[in-house]
Amino acid sequence: MSTAEIGLIGLGTMGAALASNIADNGFRVAVFNRTTSVTQSFHADAGELAERIVPTESLEDLVAAIAEPRAIILMVPAGEAVDAQIAALRPLLGPDDLIIDAGNANFHDTNRRARDAGDLPFLGIGVSGGEEGARFGPSIMGGGKRAYWDRVAHILEAISAKHEGTPCATWMGEEGAGHFVKAVHNGIEYADMQMIAEVYGIMRDGLGMEAAGIGDVFAGWNEGVLQSYLIEISGKVAKATDPESGDPMLEVIVDAAGQKGTGRWTVIEAQHLAAPVPAIEAAVMARNLSSRREERTAGEALFSAGPRAISGGVDLEMLEGALIAGKILCYAQGFAMISAASEEFGWALPLPEIAKVWREGCIIRSAMLDDMASALGEDAGRNLMFAGLFADHLKAQHGALREVVAIAASHGIAVPALASGLAYFDTMRTSRGTANMIQGQRDFFGAHGFERFDGRTGQHGPWAMG
Ligand code: 6PG
Repeated sequence: MSTAEIGLIGLGTMGAALASNIADNGFRVAVFNRTTSVTQSFHADAGELAERIVPTESLEDLVAAIAEPRAIILMVPAGEAVDAQIAALRPLLGPDDLIIDAGNANFHDTNRRARDAGDLPFLGIGVSGGEEGARFGPSIMGGGKRAYWDRVAHILEAISAKHEGTPCATWMGEEGAGHFVKAVHNGIEYADMQMIAEVYGIMRDGLGMEAAGIGDVFAGWNEGVLQSYLIEISGKVAKATDPESGDPMLEVIVDAAGQKGTGRWTVIEAQHLAAPVPAIEAAVMARNLSSRREERTAGEALFSAGPRAISGGVDLEMLEGALIAGKILCYAQGFAMISAASEEFGWALPLPEIAKVWREGCIIRSAMLDDMASALGEDAGRNLMFAGLFADHLKAQHGALREVVAIAASHGIAVPALASGLAYFDTMRTSRGTANMIQGQRDFFGAHGFERFDGRTGQHGPWAMG
């Protein structure tokens, strides 16, 4: 009997949480997983939600269990698995049935899949918030034809996080627009996490603080301008104790970060768009170097170095200020990249709406986002670092960022994301830069020509040959 309002394929951590969320919001959801025992135990463990979950054991059964026109969410690993799943599913579907890829797809793949689908309904949606978000309210960034989004918007809005009652689920634009916005979200996530880790490093190595004390500092900051999910969980991570050894968890965890690639995609795309995101680049670089533990250990022995204790000049208030400035610059770079993509791809990405959709549910949710939504609402084309409130924060805090970066550098403490944020800030507030030298060099070796201050273009220097 075709009774389910929606279907879902892939009952991994995120898929299972999303299916439970859908059922919890009163919708009947048909579910399928390649391994039938996973489907069975998911249903068996669903408690009172089980009555709205329809377990199925084949794609045919899944399709038969969903009311027409069907909508089926794919929660399978990004990449080839998505193409394989679409190829297996399409022949079983009617021309009005909608496939929704809700994984962390590369937006180029989503663009391709949307084009390949032709007139067959397809959406690519970015879902953020980790397992808890998927279960109790993620932030959802939709991409594809608006009419397809509208067909399922009531379900996606119902399951999404809410900011003062407003659903954090929004259509971003055609094709891969939703997955693009999700990628930039993840880029900002990487940069924000990295800056927090750098400040943790200064407290640990420079100021000699214990993990629990660092946790208290983060918890305190979470009451102020920095209030955000990432600061909150950083405090909890720092305060946690390993049940096995009794040591702080941070003393047990190896200092080599993993990554699935979304941050790297953001950086690569930013380069294509000529939209600099140096804080995100630094964060990706730092993750890559973090995994080279053997080399780093050899380097410490060779250069008899490593971080040195800081005897003065940095206090906790200064670190908080540096992080405020750094965080604003992360977001500013991310939004500037979205703005560039909007133009390049002809997507008309709704920048204020993006800030709104990130206010709850997602990993980079933060108290700043509401004000960012307002600032972008006033002028979506303006870099956030120039917008009233954020310019004021930067005026007040860039000195702290500068001191922290300088003192970290003079004590051998690597702070690549904070330093790159500072360099971005300084570059963006320098009217007369140094690229005249670059232009001179280019003209010298390649007769590339330059523009003079008097407005004449295509000029050459006296060094030109012949
Ligand atoms: C989210 C997260 C989520 C996940 C990514 C990033 O918004 O919920 O971004 O999508 O954490 O997979 O993970 P990596 O750090 O492994 O790249």
